[in-house]
Amino acid sequence: MEKKYIQIPVDVLDGVEELEVDEQNLVNAAIAAAGNAYAPYSGFSVGAVALLQNGTVVTGNNQENAAYPSGMCAERVALYWAGANYPDIPVSCLVVVATKKGELTNDIISPCGACRQVFSETEQRYHKGFKLILVGKSQVLRFANATDLLPLSFGPAQLK
Ligand code: THU
Repeated sequence: MEKKYIQIPVDVLDGVEELEVDEQNLVNAAIAAAGNAYAPYSGFSVGAVALLQNGTVVTGNNQENAAYPSGMCAERVALYWAGANYPDIPVSCLVVVATKKGELTNDIISPCGACRQVFSETEQRYHKGFKLILVGKSQVLRFANATDLLPLSFGPAQLK
């Protein structure tokens, strides 16, 4: 037996100010999107912004439901909306934030497993990775592609 390690390259930034200006603009759009979240049960507002390859900016936020599992995360709302309306345009960047009382949370928001699976499908669908930026007040993580967040993931190749 041989012990091996799966490593994920990630840019660790000290705050939003260290991002590129175009990335900062996406963060501001994500904060605005979080403001429209429907999160009466968790009180946790999440905003996601997908930048498409043609420059289109698509936003999403979490949509909760009294039947809890019927709710949907912000990331999937944004990516599914992009897929529904711009099916042929690859996603080039996804920014995710969480807010409390309109303020960015201190810690980054870490996407759930189901969202990671959808990130992976989106990258495979377009044969192209997208940049993923997870934003908190005191830390920002930037990944060159999103499938890295779900090592050994199930994908279309397994269905063959
Ligand atoms: N949520 C998201 O929208 N994205 C995530 O990555 C994690 C969690 C939402 C789902 C639910 O509405 C609330 O946050 C609390 O879990």
